[in-house]
Amino acid sequence: MAQRKVAMAAAAFFALLAVASLLCAPAAAGLVRMEHPAKNDGSLSLLVVGDWGRKGTYNQSRVAYQMGKVGEQLNIDFVISTGDNFYENGLTGTDDQGFEQSFTDIYTAKSLQKPWYLVLGNHDYRGDALAQLSPVLRKIDSRFICMKSFIVNAEIVDFFFVDTTPFQLKYWTHPKDDHYDWRGVAPREKYINILLKDLDEAMKKSTAAWKIAVGHHTMRSVSDHGDTKELLQLLLPVLQANGVDFYINGHDHCLEHISSRDSPIQYFTSGGGSKAWRGVQNTNEDDLKFFYDGQGFMSLQLDHSEAHFTFYDVDGEALYHYTRPSLRKTAGHLQASGYVNEE
Ligand SMILES: *[C@@H]1O[C@H](CO)[C@@H](O)[C@H](O)[C@H]1NC(C)=O
Repeated sequence: MAQRKVAMAAAAFFALLAVASLLCAPAAAGLVRMEHPAKNDGSLSLLVVGDWGRKGTYNQSRVAYQMGKVGEQLNIDFVISTGDNFYENGLTGTDDQGFEQSFTDIYTAKSLQKPWYLVLGNHDYRGDALAQLSPVLRKIDSRFICMKSFIVNAEIVDFFFVDTTPFQLKYWTHPKDDHYDWRGVAPREKYINILLKDLDEAMKKSTAAWKIAVGHHTMRSVSDHGDTKELLQLLLPVLQANGVDFYINGHDHCLEHISSRDSPIQYFTSGGGSKAWRGVQNTNEDDLKFFYDGQGFMSLQLDHSEAHFTFYDVDGEALYHYTRPSLRKTAGHLQASGYVNEE
């Protein structure tokens, strides 16, 4: 009990530190980087959920409840959101009640009172995209750490969070009736070029046992949206060149694991946070290992030598497990220092 309190206090403290460092980081110096300590034994556990903000409807509350239970069992360190945080059109501003109705009032379990690292999805870009990045929201709920692209260095693993919405060309050329908040993004090509260069540099400096990229859009998917061509063309080569182990996304409202045929990269979709059951399953050029069309979420447990993924449904039933040994030669804790700073 006392131990847990200390751990929670530590988590809250590091969340504050993270916010403080974020506020200090100059915009022009590449990607914002945050530190999140691993557990004392060097391991890390977390949950991943995507495509969720519907004020509890479409089983969002059921998924949230099970996340709380699994979060407790695994003693999670933080939560990752793969985006589409607020439907249908993001937040209208920092005073949008949807923030509390879809986030604070839904993910109430004790185990979920940890930092949430979030990226934006295409639906978030249809509202006030900058509102979700605002410190005003963190005053309402300090868990909410959302940025466009950033790095979380969690000792044994570096997470590279990538803002994938600007990649998808059709949002620019065929927005239909939707308005996308491209403030700070347009022009597209320049934004993407700088982002890819920053990612490449940061990945090259990373010495963690694991490298994981997180974005909203699919790289590979057998569900409705399918593959995202622009990510395969532009982002995938950067991940491959730098030995990224996993790409984790949402966007398709399902759970899936696809294994790349031409590299060690594994693709995980965790987009089952609320509305699901699309009823679409296409074929894919890569190797489909698991697909579930309903709601749910994913857990990830890592140490120096192994990464263990599990998908859960709305009843907390474990649907699928996948374990991967680290492909990097690590000298135990010597290799765990994480990140090479270049001053
Ligand atoms: C909620 O989950 C149950 C169990 O998977 C499913 O049968 C039901 O259709 C879901 N409800 C919605 C609105 O998706």
